[in-house]
Amino acid sequence: MPPHRDRSSPSEELRRAASRWRTERQLKRLSRLPSAGADSVTFAVLGDVEPSRFWIYRKLFNEEGVFRRQMEAIQGHRVNFIVQLGDMVSKGEPHRYEAFFRDLKRAWKGGRPYLTVIGNHDRSRPNGRSHSNMYRSLFGRPNYFFDHGRTRFVVLDSSAKRVTPAQLRWLDLVLSTPLRKIVFTHMPPVHLGLWGGVGKVHALGGFVGGAREFSDVVSANGVSRVYMGHVHAFGVQDHGGVRYVLTGGGGSALFPSGATDRFHHFLTVEIGPRGIRERVHALDGRVFHIPSAPVILPVHEHAHSWGAVARHYGRRLVRALRD
Ligand SMILES: [Fe+2]
Repeated sequence: MPPHRDRSSPSEELRRAASRWRTERQLKRLSRLPSAGADSVTFAVLGDVEPSRFWIYRKLFNEEGVFRRQMEAIQGHRVNFIVQLGDMVSKGEPHRYEAFFRDLKRAWKGGRPYLTVIGNHDRSRPNGRSHSNMYRSLFGRPNYFFDHGRTRFVVLDSSAKRVTPAQLRWLDLVLSTPLRKIVFTHMPPVHLGLWGGVGKVHALGGFVGGAREFSDVVSANGVSRVYMGHVHAFGVQDHGGVRYVLTGGGGSALFPSGATDRFHHFLTVEIGPRGIRERVHALDGRVFHIPSAPVILPVHEHAHSWGAVARHYGRRLVRALRD
């Protein structure tokens, strides 16, 4: 009988491939940079990169090699570190992580610390009951924080579509600092509701449990930014004095959703005594600044009719089947 392969724990080979990307190891490298104690810090944020498990989704809504191209582009910028916002694999299985580390090794030129946020796809199942054993074994704790350039960066696990009361207490505690504060989490809190979701099912786009409490905590602690992915699009919303930036265009399929700005991109962010400056780098070469003026999005509107969506993707499907 062939040996049973435990799908919730990594092989020795996978552990070895992952060892250099462990959060603890990357944070140690980051802490040795001269910018650690400086007044300013620069970093890149890359959203969801999993290309989709399903051939048809890849054909209809995606293109090949976006993750690699964007990783290579990021390394042309002077950033102190890179944060990937989760959904690095389509499903948290050993062979998918193996393929991801192969891609990452090819695309990463050995410079910048690379930090991760856990996404729902990085768990044992992307939806429904699931666990995060594989991510924990490979990277370490899914909730962590670090200080760099007079700024506290907090990574919060929202991959199970909720944030627990214990996480909220921890978040409140680690945000009690006079430093500037930045939060990274995979999913937007659902009450922002203007991103993600199809038709009236807005909840697809964000975490539900603890969502309002999460916003209360980040508002009360004067967090400057919350960076989020999960919805494969770009967007900005100011809510309760906190700017939420959706940057989910790392390389995953650009599904039709409530979000209108669906394009592949990454962010570069400079934080210094004069504030925060963010640039959006689209895969097609466009670069633009995120304006500092408040952004209050209108009540949920869909930019497309379902008839137009069906016609557009019908044409792509015909082309895919012909190829
Ligand atoms: Fe996700």
